[in-house]
Amino acid sequence: KKIIILVSGNGSNMESIIKSCQNKSIHDTEVSLVISNKNNALALKKANNLGVKTKVLENACFPCRELYDQELLHIIKQYDCDLIILAGFMRILTPKFIDAFKNKIINIHPSLLPKFPGLHTHKRAIENNEIYHGTTIHYVIPELDAGPIIFQKKFKIESHDCEQTLYKKVQEIEHQLYPKTINLLLNKNVSISKMNVNIESIDT
Ligand code: GRF
Repeated sequence: KKIIILVSGNGSNMESIIKSCQNKSIHDTEVSLVISNKNNALALKKANNLGVKTKVLENACFPCRELYDQELLHIIKQYDCDLIILAGFMRILTPKFIDAFKNKIINIHPSLLPKFPGLHTHKRAIENNEIYHGTTIHYVIPELDAGPIIFQKKFKIESHDCEQTLYKKVQEIEHQLYPKTINLLLNKNVSISKMNVNIESIDT
């Protein structure tokens, strides 16, 4: 199987996905391409170091969202990929693009959706005195961070936690959860019908 990963920044989730493909914990799958909308994204260096092809599609080179996504669609169509994975991709995709890949685009979001869509999720969880925090993997629909949830993993916020410690805890979980979920979606036919199943209880 083939997957394409879209990034904008650090690329730590992307890195864990690429490594999981290479060490076969995601079975029978290759990362065909990493696309970044920022030419200085650290993710590009990481992908290159891991031997994965990269492409930059900068926001500023396109006058509008529709033309950006038209080019993105054109590039991705050439790969006949099974899944498009957003891993810290900081752009909203147009309905036309999302429609072209129905149920094939997934995202990871650092909160327990539907709580805290958008930015600054760790800060907002603390300010809101939440008991739990965590991360969510969901299908992408035109509405931001609102698509059907595939998996969620939560943990209890401790009294000493701050924005930085939550960021670290969430990232650690994400690096495990995203590759596992991708493997299940691609190789075990786990679909929306098994939503909200605790991934730790599934035999991978
Ligand atoms: C992750 O925390 C993810 O939930 C959010 O953006 C962050 C990306 O981190 N969508 P990285 O670039 O994978 O390190």
